[in-house]
Amino acid sequence: MSRIYWPPHGGRVAPLLARFDLSADHPVTDFSANLNPLGPPTWLTDWLAGAGERLTRYPDPDDDRARRAIADHEGLAPEQVLLTNGGIEAIYLAAALHAGGQALVIEPTFSEYALACRHHGLDVATLALRGEAFALEVEAAERALARVDVAFLCRPNNPTGTLVARVDIARLLARSRETGTTLVVDEAFVDFTEGDERLNALLAEAPNLLLLRSLTKWFDVPGLRLGYLLGAPATVRRLAVRQMPWSVNALAQALVAPLLADHDYLARTRAWLATVRPAVPEAARSLGFTVPATQANFFLLRGGRNVAEAETLFAFLLHRGLLARHTHGFPGLDGAWLRLALREGHDNARLLEALAEWRRP
Ligand SMILES: Cc1ncc(COP(=O)(O)O)c(C=O)c1O
Repeated sequence: MSRIYWPPHGGRVAPLLARFDLSADHPVTDFSANLNPLGPPTWLTDWLAGAGERLTRYPDPDDDRARRAIADHEGLAPEQVLLTNGGIEAIYLAAALHAGGQALVIEPTFSEYALACRHHGLDVATLALRGEAFALEVEAAERALARVDVAFLCRPNNPTGTLVARVDIARLLARSRETGTTLVVDEAFVDFTEGDERLNALLAEAPNLLLLRSLTKWFDVPGLRLGYLLGAPATVRRLAVRQMPWSVNALAQALVAPLLADHDYLARTRAWLATVRPAVPEAARSLGFTVPATQANFFLLRGGRNVAEAETLFAFLLHRGLLARHTHGFPGLDGAWLRLALREGHDNARLLEALAEWRRP
């Protein structure tokens, strides 16, 4: 049990500096938030400066233009798309659809699935990913799915970075169709995967599949609050009636099309990922750390033999100006692991130097 206050999400620097008796202006490079380190597209500031007029009108209640842009981008029909106030609203809507029922959460994972389910009166059962590779036991998952109304699975998974194989998802979907279970796959980080790992193609044959997306991570716009949900048209309609009117503001709504059309940003992000994702986790492994294979823009690192050692490493990094994401609040990890964002080369080098120093006898 830790004596330290651990904020429930990443990117919360101030309370942690205070807890470790560091001054508020202690310089910190944030490895705790899993956002694109290239920063938002450069045209965004000018766009926002010229967008004031949009605030004088209500958002389009049907999000028509944004939904069409998403549908084109995803190769789907607009009726399969619901625009949401961040990925988080999509999670809460998916839970609302099954209010009062039974849910399954495959963990360790993003804490908000269980919170959203409890918020909507669902009973939450959990299934643990296995071992230090965080593998899904597919047969156990099939059995667990059969007992619930809705199951949440994150792919690639926050905080492990691991990716359940597409064939295993197809098996889970087949089983959950038989039992009438909705399978919610949160793809908030799918843009960062190698190759095209999105599950859109499965939507055609699986009306019980819901895919959740976020523009937050890829475009580094956590303040904008943009996400969406993809599913069968009938399910999307049932979700839409549970959404608050004008849930997505007019600026965010108008930004969907230009953000998705920014192919230069996509190319730059992919080029960055191609160098850092193989190199940084591997370098940490060569220092003797356990690091599961990651398909995301972050990786998990075993911080020590127990929670106390991981907390000491956390403090060691913070004193060197490197903020890791603690894993208190991720059942199954309980603080013994740290999650670290992949950043640009010089930041990654500083992190690896600090990890090497920690390892030195
Ligand atoms: C797996 C996952 N899904 C959804 C979200 C929420 O995304 P948004 O900021 O778009 O609401 C997060 C945020 O950390 C996340 O990690």
